[in-house]
Amino acid sequence: MKRICCLKGSPRKNGNTNTLTAVVTERLREAGVGIDEFSLYDMNIQGCRACRWCQKDWTKISCIMNDDMQQIYDSITNSDLVLLSTPIYCWYCTAPMKAAMDRMAYAPNMFYGDAIGPALWAGKSTALITTCGYPPEKGADLFQEGLRRITKHSGMHYRGMLCERQRNLHDPFMDDEKRAHAEAFADDILGWLGV
Ligand SMILES: Cc1cc2nc3c(=O)[nH]c(=O)nc-3n(C[C@H](O)[C@H](O)[C@H](O)COP(=O)(O)O)c2cc1C
Repeated sequence: MKRICCLKGSPRKNGNTNTLTAVVTERLREAGVGIDEFSLYDMNIQGCRACRWCQKDWTKISCIMNDDMQQIYDSITNSDLVLLSTPIYCWYCTAPMKAAMDRMAYAPNMFYGDAIGPALWAGKSTALITTCGYPPEKGADLFQEGLRRITKHSGMHYRGMLCERQRNLHDPFMDDEKRAHAEAFADDILGWLGV
């Protein structure tokens, strides 16, 4: 069974990003993909302290901080794709997602110890679901580029982004066009996974 680790970084349970993401995950589950979903605002994820304890053991992704990040490391280890889902805040992701990304930049990548070692998540894929107020090319471009770079830095494959805009806070976000885009993105993911 193909598996996805889905990190959800929106504080709004029924907000735009989670609504869009649910269309994608529902279609993936229907196709038989196993998905671990993590709502980062409900979790205890501390910021990286740059102590480099994670660099000692090259056999597993680990961190000296005993918080909820370990569940995410375990899921990443067992997954083919890491799917990030976040609204854009100040042209990047939300704060809990940034904390998780910092923790993912160090702990799986054995580049920062006394000797250079492997990236323990190399060969896996990343993809992005995001929503923003600006048009995607002006709202989500910087975060997409950040994710592209950490993906390349880690020897992984960046697969692509689904980005939808909410033009007006007073109008409903979801419509048939966005639903169709989300279903097509799910189909793309199935293609990347070879399902
Ligand atoms: C604190 C905050 C910062 C935001 N910063 C941006 C931004 O830099 N660029 C942008 O296009 N939209 C920005 N937005 C708009 C949100 O990205 C947009 O409304 C998004 O769809 C909200 O998703 P949600 O319903 O999942 O919370 C911001 C919203 C908030 C609350």
